[in-house]
Amino acid sequence: MKYLHKIKGIALRAASLSDALSIWQWRNLDDAYKFYGNAEYVPYEKHIGWFRKALNDEDRYLLIAELEGDPIAHIRFDLEDTSATVSICMAGNAKGKKLSRPSLEVSCDYIMSKGYTEILASIHEMNLASIRLFRSLDFELETSSPPFLNYCLRKHREA
Ligand SMILES: CC(C)(COP(=O)(O)OP(=O)(O)OC[C@H]1O[C@@H](n2cnc3c(N)ncnc32)[C@H](O)[C@@H]1OP(=O)(O)O)[C@@H](O)C(=O)NCCC(=O)NCCS
Repeated sequence: MKYLHKIKGIALRAASLSDALSIWQWRNLDDAYKFYGNAEYVPYEKHIGWFRKALNDEDRYLLIAELEGDPIAHIRFDLEDTSATVSICMAGNAKGKKLSRPSLEVSCDYIMSKGYTEILASIHEMNLASIRLFRSLDFELETSSPPFLNYCLRKHREA
């Protein structure tokens, strides 16, 4: 397995078509999609069509974080100029185990190493776990477009 990056035992790899079903299942666990911009249940046939396109979209990174070879999270970046908008979804069996922070950290570190200087996250105001997660990694609240709060992490220039 070719890993892109590794921090604190969490390894990052590119997602592939064989991850499509797991990601669809994670997205539907506990109605996780209710906090997304598109807060609707997406049937698998529609998801797989979207996923195929997204995998071939050069303005997107679709990533999987793994712990000891087991997939624990899907992280997506939508790219525009030097900004990357992030979205994360944990696997069912990895939820609530404080694994979201290292998964997001390895992903943000990787994307910044690719030259992106600003990571944006739009988080539903009721999504308390996500708010805690992003704040713990120093994302700052910049604006709000109810019910979403817009957080940002900027890479500071080295002196
Ligand atoms: C949001 C999400 C990534 C967090 O991951 P998680 O595995 O559930 O949470 P973790 O165990 O890593 O804990 C992260 C923080 O949230 C807190 N937390 C966890 N569940 C919580 C809940 N139900 N309510 C409030 N806080 C909660 C934890 O205490 C921790 O904060 P702390 O370190 O300050 O104590 C995960 O729940 C998920 O995939 N949700 C569905 C998709 C989603 O909403 N993604 C975010 C949109 S970008």
